[in-house]
Amino acid sequence: MRSAASDSSNFETKVTHMVRHYLSVTDFTPTETLALLQRAHTLKAAWHAQQQEFPLRGQTLALVFEKPSLRTRVAFEAGMTQLGGHGSYLSANDIDMGGRESVADVAHNLSRWVQAIAARVFKHQTVEQLARFATVPVINALSDLEHPCQALADMLTLYEHCPALHTATLAYVGDGNNVCHSLMLIGALLGVQMRVACPPDYRPHPDVVEQAQRLAVVHGQQISITAVPEEAVAGADAVYTDVWASMGQEHEAARRRPVFAAYQVNQPLLSYARPDALVMHCLPAHRGEEITAEVIDGPQSVVFEQAENRLHVQKALILTLLELAAGSQSSR
Ligand code: CP
Ligand code: NVA
Repeated sequence: MRSAASDSSNFETKVTHMVRHYLSVTDFTPTETLALLQRAHTLKAAWHAQQQEFPLRGQTLALVFEKPSLRTRVAFEAGMTQLGGHGSYLSANDIDMGGRESVADVAHNLSRWVQAIAARVFKHQTVEQLARFATVPVINALSDLEHPCQALADMLTLYEHCPALHTATLAYVGDGNNVCHSLMLIGALLGVQMRVACPPDYRPHPDVVEQAQRLAVVHGQQISITAVPEEAVAGADAVYTDVWASMGQEHEAARRRPVFAAYQVNQPLLSYARPDALVMHCLPAHRGEEITAEVIDGPQSVVFEQAENRLHVQKALILTLLELAAGSQSSR
């Protein structure tokens, strides 16, 4: 990983008069992404050394959540507190975006009070619309298309175990969903060899696959997609899975279960990976469905490291976006 300092020249050239948002992992260049991970790593060390600084005193992050959350919400709220600021949580019951008030009006209002907005939405277009009308940075806290904050935490976790990311192989087994999309894209950005195994009818979106393939080429890599889990997992450094039915798809759970049964991450499948391969999951997990209890609670599992790293990457992300926004204001 290169140091944040060595990335600074590129970083400066990205400052424009536009507010920068983080709706997709591809909103940051590979250099910016590495700088962000480096910053998260530094913040993590400071947190563990109980060294505190409060650069965001008096600042507020609005948390607009249409869906439930444990990790994302608490990591943002605790992160803001630790930085001296405040997280203001707004559930669907509170504001009912698009119902009680239009997405545009929510964006206009929040921009008058807070310094940034994190939004967890059903439709990706909703977070895009928020970003279109907000004059403060908007962060995608999960949409049907991407889960970029999760992917940042996953890359920090992978980096901590395999510092040469461009030599690491990550196998994702299961549904070609939002988590899979962000992982494929960020893996491609950082030169991680990505392999995806999913049932033929549940492959990642073709546009995302194409975008990831284009990004991967820069590193001489290719994203491989297969229907055979053993093929994806063979010799992998990390094996990742997620629920078979995401939030909003609960009604499909029974129909999906038999389709995904062969994609369960269990001990026999894990035995195809490297003996010390990491077991990864974004959580929440359904033990006995996409992953066995033996594997997720076993010695190779890093799922709670991933969860902890949500805190550090989200703090780094807020700080970076606010600095970019301040730079944009002062250059007007
Ligand atoms: N992984 C994750 O985003 O968890 P939450 O849904 O609890 O925020
Ligand atoms: N794919 C899952 C991730 C939850 C963090 C979902 O969207 O529900």
